[in-house]
Amino acid sequence: MRAVVLGAAAGGGFPQWNSNTEACRRARAGDGKAMPRTQASLAVSGDGERWFLVNASPDLRQQIEARPFLHPRRGLRSSPIEGVVLTGADVDAIAGLLHLRERQAFTIYATARVIDVLKANPIFGVLAEECVRREAVPLEKTFELRHIDGSDSGIAAELFDVPGKVALYLEPGDAPEALAGRPGDTVGVELRAGSDRLIYVPGCARMTDGLRQRLAGASVVLFDGTLWHDDEMIRLGLGPKTGQRMGHMSVSGADGTIAAFRGLPVRRRILVHINNSNPILLDDSPERAVLEKEGWEVAYDGMEVSP
Ligand code: MLT
Ligand code: MN
Repeated sequence: MRAVVLGAAAGGGFPQWNSNTEACRRARAGDGKAMPRTQASLAVSGDGERWFLVNASPDLRQQIEARPFLHPRRGLRSSPIEGVVLTGADVDAIAGLLHLRERQAFTIYATARVIDVLKANPIFGVLAEECVRREAVPLEKTFELRHIDGSDSGIAAELFDVPGKVALYLEPGDAPEALAGRPGDTVGVELRAGSDRLIYVPGCARMTDGLRQRLAGASVVLFDGTLWHDDEMIRLGLGPKTGQRMGHMSVSGADGTIAAFRGLPVRRRILVHINNSNPILLDDSPERAVLEKEGWEVAYDGMEVSP
């Protein structure tokens, strides 16, 4: 299995259009230690020719143009993109589907909860049903990623529920139980080929025993790296919300990702979906040094993460 990070940033990207923080200014100025990143997405392939995306970010058009392996090669109209797996219905996971609207056949794999969100939003009708198949996938059931011609890609996939939050635009109010959503609203995806296991979890509100069991023994894990501190948006004066309120566990701290992964046998651990407020985006930050000492990598656009 080949796997490449198309985008490593959280919603808004790095730099974010309306952010004038020092980090975003450094990214705009071309500072080599503040590398710009587009919004989170992963591309995987079983044969190196035909590809599946995990999430379709609002930056998808730019991501396709940046990666020659995603360019059309057959005839006047074609695409190596055979399918898109969705981990939720957040804007940064589904908005890019609208870039794929030129009557090109591909399959969308998602939970019934997420497929229902697409169905309820008439704008996604631009993906004509006779071209774009929407496959509702049950949780914790292995399915094969299939090429449009019906052949197997060689990659088996499984969606599993993780603690999260309903999409921002579907929030039913502030009650924590309702905000947490239902099973299938926020999922991770496990991709397997032979003995390789790659797990992609761009959003997760907390570690659970079940999730630890799932992650144990994985070849590569790409995990929610949204915030360093739960309250960093508030501290920096960027917004009123904590990471917890947004459905993201933070990287540092007693309940954070670094602590949660200690002792977990995972060959390669990588943070992805990184918010522009997170200091790990800066190669020369003390937080980056801490992270690397703990054996973590920070995803960037174009990063090879093949197991
Ligand atoms: C998130 O990851 O919390 C969401 O993508 C936020 C958003 O919808 O902008
Ligand atoms: Mn997001």
